[in-house]
Amino acid sequence: MFRLDNKVAIVTGAGRGLGAATARMLARQGAHVAAADINFDEVEKVVAEIGNGSKAYAADVSNVTEINSLVEGVVRDFGHIDILVNNAGICPRLPFMESTEADWEKITRINAKSQYFLMQAVCPIMKKQGGRTHRKRVIHRGAHRWFRQRQHLQRNQGRHHHVQQVRRTRGSCRWHLS
Ligand SMILES: NC(=O)c1ccc[n+]([C@@H]2O[C@H](COP(=O)([O-])OP(=O)(O)OC[C@H]3O[C@@H](n4cnc5c(N)ncnc54)[C@H](O)[C@@H]3O)[C@@H](O)[C@H]2O)c1
Repeated sequence: MFRLDNKVAIVTGAGRGLGAATARMLARQGAHVAAADINFDEVEKVVAEIGNGSKAYAADVSNVTEINSLVEGVVRDFGHIDILVNNAGICPRLPFMESTEADWEKITRINAKSQYFLMQAVCPIMKKQGGRTHRKRVIHRGAHRWFRQRQHLQRNQGRHHHVQQVRRTRGSCRWHLS
């Protein structure tokens, strides 16, 4: 089984669901988890449970100022960042014809913009740390099932496209790190 002793992992949306499960798994493998969520009370409970020197952060990852504060806080507290899990996201079940511009913008801000700017904030820190590129990780969690749901098809195609764009950006991040 792989070990992540003394690695520092940011997990967004770690207050519940898949983010909380990812934070637990990373801590079990030895990582210190910087668990971030818009809901601080929930993420604090997760951190109290997983221990291992992990820490809870309040951050709305759809806001670039809060992203930068989060990343600065993690560097101040831990000194380095080895793993970024871009997990925070929303998946509202809105019928396509009833969705509004505000819905689209909110989904895009939380699900796509957050991933893009988190990578932009973390990438220079990983590069400065040096070491081998394959030992640094950026992981994106997207909602592919959304994409397949016919009722939501067009809006989901939009989101899927955004997530794909972010993944291409991850390629740029890898290039920047090497
Ligand atoms: N659950 C699934 O079946 C499934 C399948 C595929 C992909 N996904 C994706 O995985 C991710 C997690 O899914 P989940 O089911 O655990 O979701 P969830 O709704 O249970 O948890 C999402 C977490 O993100 C947090 N969050 C929401 N907006 C935020 C913001 N602006 N800033 C910071 N934190 C924020 C919430 O407070 C919550 O703790 C999402 O991106 C989702 O689209 C989920």
